[in-house]
Amino acid sequence: MNQTDFARRLITWQRRHGRRDLPWQVSDPYRVWLSEIMLQQTQVATVAGYYPRFLEKFPTIQSLAAAPQDDVLALWAGLGYYSRARNLHKAAQQVVTEFGGQFPQNRADLERLCGVGRSTAAAIAAFAFHQRETILDGNVKRVLCRVFAQDGDPQDKKFENRLWQLAESLMPSENAEMPAYTQGLMDLGATVCKRSKPLCGECPMAGICQAKAQNRTAELPRRKAAAEAATLPLYWLVLRRKDGAVLLEKRPAKGIWGGLYCVPCFETLEALNQFAARHGIFSDCLSEQPALTHRLTHRLLLITPFSAQAESVSDGLWASSENLAAYGLPKPLAAYLQQP
Ligand code: ADE
Repeated sequence: MNQTDFARRLITWQRRHGRRDLPWQVSDPYRVWLSEIMLQQTQVATVAGYYPRFLEKFPTIQSLAAAPQDDVLALWAGLGYYSRARNLHKAAQQVVTEFGGQFPQNRADLERLCGVGRSTAAAIAAFAFHQRETILDGNVKRVLCRVFAQDGDPQDKKFENRLWQLAESLMPSENAEMPAYTQGLMDLGATVCKRSKPLCGECPMAGICQAKAQNRTAELPRRKAAAEAATLPLYWLVLRRKDGAVLLEKRPAKGIWGGLYCVPCFETLEALNQFAARHGIFSDCLSEQPALTHRLTHRLLLITPFSAQAESVSDGLWASSENLAAYGLPKPLAAYLQQP
């Protein structure tokens, strides 16, 4: 097989069978960038709900840069990985201050934006500016490891560099083909060359795929050693006034749910009790609720809510039930507060 064979097969397949009606298949770099950040750790179907709402509120990078961080986080609430939203906001301000309001047009400049790594920069450069830059995300690594029977350790930096070199060598020679080629890489990895049960019968690479020829699609790419998600117990203090308002706090910028609004949240029961006592609420007034679990990438949260009526507490941020939707709340808290 020669290397242009890969690009030719991919582009032909993408034009016939790939995804061509996604809302972010446009040449406006602001829209492309926003979609790539949302799609970094979130599926297309979920992003499709958030993306138009975000653009309605922030139609331009200038409007995003000028917005208060809380408004950005409120629109992101539920998508998870909130550092993406904080970086997005910072990057919009970088475009305004460092690039005179013009979106950077090459990969090196794009990589200077907060939250934009090499593969995301390449996706924006290829989609919005038709540049010959290759993406290499988890899906693309899987495609390359199979088609070219690469069986290195995905944790190994040297092996990753080899995959970047391989990806660089496979790009089509025509700039105009970069959007279809890049979308093809994404589509093939997401819809055909799936992690388990790949649809080799529908794959444009079936004739040249070395893993298929060697009957090794199940073992390639090599798996990372699975790290067990550590369980982190958390305790929520859910204070409600008679009018239904709930006490919220803004979370510190770093760490779990950074920058979102949450009920007072503690890693130990002692800390929760001390906080409550300082507000005149003693443990016999606290009612323990059934625990809930919430999975983050590297953590399993085991959350025990304690609720109490709190008439005496006046200071702090009290959100009425009608106002709750305006705050960026962690997903499990929004769900919990919605219960009757
Ligand atoms: N995942 C990351 N970027 C994507 C895109 N542009 N289209 C579909 N899925 C994606």
